[in-house]
Amino acid sequence: MKDKLEQILVDATKEINNAESVQSLDDVRLKYLSRKGELNSIKKNLKDLSDEDKRIVGSLANTVSNQLEDLIKNKSEELYKIELDKKLENEKIDITLPSDFRMQGRVHPLTQTINEIVEIFNGLGFSVMASENSPEVETEYINFDMLNFPPNHPAKDMQDTFYTKVAPNVILRSQTSGAQIRQMLNQKPPVRVISPGRVYRCESVSARKNNLFHQIEGLLVDKDITFADLKGILNEFIRLYFGSSRPTRFRASYFPFTEPSAEVDVQCIMCGGKGCRTCSGTGWLEVLGAGMVHANVLRNVGIDPEIYSGFAFGMGVERLTMLKYAINDIRLFFNNDNRFLNQFRL
Ligand code: PHE
Repeated sequence: MKDKLEQILVDATKEINNAESVQSLDDVRLKYLSRKGELNSIKKNLKDLSDEDKRIVGSLANTVSNQLEDLIKNKSEELYKIELDKKLENEKIDITLPSDFRMQGRVHPLTQTINEIVEIFNGLGFSVMASENSPEVETEYINFDMLNFPPNHPAKDMQDTFYTKVAPNVILRSQTSGAQIRQMLNQKPPVRVISPGRVYRCESVSARKNNLFHQIEGLLVDKDITFADLKGILNEFIRLYFGSSRPTRFRASYFPFTEPSAEVDVQCIMCGGKGCRTCSGTGWLEVLGAGMVHANVLRNVGIDPEIYSGFAFGMGVERLTMLKYAINDIRLFFNNDNRFLNQFRL
């Protein structure tokens, strides 16, 4: 039995040293050291020996078992390290390889302009009206009648309107001014809001006109509001939007829902007022329509014009963007050509 134990020590040591993986080392451990292993079967037979032999063989069996356990432990650490190194080597990432190219989205230039203008008016105390007060599919009643367009009056021809088949008198709105009506029906003064959105006009498309474009409507109603307040706000807006103090000009104009009405021009950004193609030689560029809210409009929404007054304005987002970046064709905004869009980085 002693010989057998010594043989086990020799064989097992050899097998441990030859083990090439954590797995095969574990097989060796099972073969010699587990409950059904070779050492244990010797220990089981100790009972057949004399007391003297029991002691000698038993202690030798324990020594062999301890030795083998130590050997296995060391070998196991060694193999684990080798296997880990191999795994790390295989999974190594080459950070010098070129990465996947992913196109990055950008904010559309019109959205950028809207965001910029909203921020300017936020700073001037205006909030953006809730979108349910500003639907794109609108009734003639809100888009025209409530805004003091007389029925069948040629003023309706100022804006060529798209009619729908949803119901008679349901249209695609031709202006954002209807939002004024919905806002005032839902909110008593003081009112101080803006509303950006899409509008539609049945016109032939050209470099200057598209049948879908964007406006930003503004409305302020309170006690003691005068034309001077309107001028102050709009001049400040233009100063902030065009970056420097650019001369502005208020021209008398006509809208059914404002009285008095004005169109606001800024000095031409191309020629500085000398006159060029962009401004048709006038030195001025029209940027928005505005005026004091007509007493009839206030009455239509149940606001007493003897107590309250207000002003409204509407501006074209495409036009303001074209003027700021010297863009000469409105259709560029809608073609989604990346060569154009990529020039507008945030
Ligand atoms: N809605 C007008 C237009 O589309 C602009 C405007 C808005 C004028 C508000 C006066 C007041 O031309």
